[in-house]
Amino acid sequence: MAFSIVTHSPDETFQIGQALGRMAKPGDVLLLQGPLGTGKTLLTQGLAKGLGITAPVTSPTFIIVNQYPGPLVLYHVDLYRIEATAEAIDLGLDDYFFGDGVCVVEWPERAPSAMPPEHLLVVLEHIGEHERSFSFQPKGSRYQALAEQLRKAIDLRPGQKAGGSRPHPGTDPPSGGSA
Ligand SMILES: Nc1ncnc2c1ncn2[C@@H]1O[C@H](COP(=O)(O)OP(=O)(O)OP(=O)(O)O)[C@@H](O)[C@H]1O
Ligand SMILES: [Mg+2]
Repeated sequence: MAFSIVTHSPDETFQIGQALGRMAKPGDVLLLQGPLGTGKTLLTQGLAKGLGITAPVTSPTFIIVNQYPGPLVLYHVDLYRIEATAEAIDLGLDDYFFGDGVCVVEWPERAPSAMPPEHLLVVLEHIGEHERSFSFQPKGSRYQALAEQLRKAIDLRPGQKAGGSRPHPGTDPPSGGSA
């Protein structure tokens, strides 16, 4: 089921990413859709940390795909600069989507038909200077399960509701139990 949350600081967004990274499985695909500066790269940086990747994750600005080795490889794709879907198809993105790593795509709306049908779509919106909303829209059973797992993990944080009430800044998501 789809749900949304609001974060009130870059750190909170990072933590949501980190929680997602801890839950990710080989072959997972996350599509991060939203305007410039909404936090797609920041969420990816948290996700990389959750995956156990130690190298710094930067924006793949001129290179379209960055690859980070770790317990699970992260493929970080940014389609902002591609001209057309055909170019995305030429990039051979399927190798990343259907590989053993975790694939995060910024600007998937630049090449919608090149995206795999099953994925976790995350729609980001700029709400205020430090506020961003994240709408998690799973497509397919794997991503329904992932979104549900994330929703529960966020719900367990003190003061946080999946509907988007104010969380406690700086509170780490629970680390015991799952993972
Ligand atoms: N709640 C928040 N969540 C995420 N980022 C925030 C938040 N509040 C402020 N920011 C700031 O917004 C910016 C987000 O930058 P980021 O590079 O992650 O965006 P992006 O969506 O990847 O942009 P682009 O489309 O250019 O790649 C950072 O400067 C960050 O500090
Ligand atoms: Mg970015």
